[in-house]
Amino acid sequence: MLRVSEVVKTFYPGTPNEVRSLRGVSFTMEPGSFTNVIGTNGSGKSTMLNAVAGVFLVDSGRVELAGDDITGWTEHQRARRIGRVFQNPFSGSAPTMTVAENLALAARRGMSRGLGWSLSTTLRGQIAERLRSLKMGLEDRLDNPIGNLSGGQRQAITLLMATWHKPDLLLLDEHTAALDPRSADQVIRLTHEIVAQDRLTTLMVTHSMQQAVHLGDRILMMHKGEFVADLSGSQKARLRPEDLLSRFDELRRRDQLTPAVGDMLEKLYV
Ligand SMILES: Nc1ncnc2c1ncn2[C@@H]1O[C@H](COP(=O)(O)OP(=O)(O)OP(=O)(O)O)[C@@H](O)[C@H]1O
Ligand SMILES: [Mg+2]
Repeated sequence: MLRVSEVVKTFYPGTPNEVRSLRGVSFTMEPGSFTNVIGTNGSGKSTMLNAVAGVFLVDSGRVELAGDDITGWTEHQRARRIGRVFQNPFSGSAPTMTVAENLALAARRGMSRGLGWSLSTTLRGQIAERLRSLKMGLEDRLDNPIGNLSGGQRQAITLLMATWHKPDLLLLDEHTAALDPRSADQVIRLTHEIVAQDRLTTLMVTHSMQQAVHLGDRILMMHKGEFVADLSGSQKARLRPEDLLSRFDELRRRDQLTPAVGDMLEKLYV
């Protein structure tokens, strides 16, 4: 279970450039649940994922994962429990290393060095088997440098690396946004299959209203460092992409009002 309580993060505090990226964000996720995060550009989605992953320490608030208070843990410590896939297909793997070597690194994460760095026949077999399950023909490219693969192929492998040890939490930050539509669909299909098979607790940021509506069991909508909607159950089941778009239009309309009127409306809404 993931529990985020009253998390605040301000960049450049007390300066003219101050950005209040997270203004006391709270939510919990049950084990095996899948939550989508949507929101306008700069609303704090990535900052929220980074706060959970430990990219920086938060100003205040608490992050708990599977019963542990991880608020003070480093990013490295959290990486043993949290798998991540980013937007950029080039950021998740080492381009000059081969497909097999990259996956072997992920497979050996947290294991003692005594097991050696050479790629054992057993591990190579396991890697080929997992690649075969992706049905992308990547099992035939074990010895190719990852840099030679397409963006979609790289994201598929990064997804496999991030989930190799069945993490307590999987964080996906617009991991299909840089791909062509066909590759994006393929990576989304794989995401769905892997997450369902291993019942992974998954938090996915997406700009695609289609993905938000069709995947997962909950949608959190962010705006200006806060959650402005939390939709699940029958409410989410009924949603269409257009419904989400009109909620964004509504937020934009409210932003165009003078701040004073905006504040007043905010009070009336709650
Ligand atoms: N490391 C940082 N240093 C300074 N400011 C930051 C940092 N990270 C994020 N911000 C600021 O915090 C705000 C929220 O950014 P964030 O990246 O979380 O938005 P986002 O919702 O992910 O947007 P997008 O949809 O464009 O990815 C922005 O104003 C951004 O400039
Ligand atoms: Mg972002």
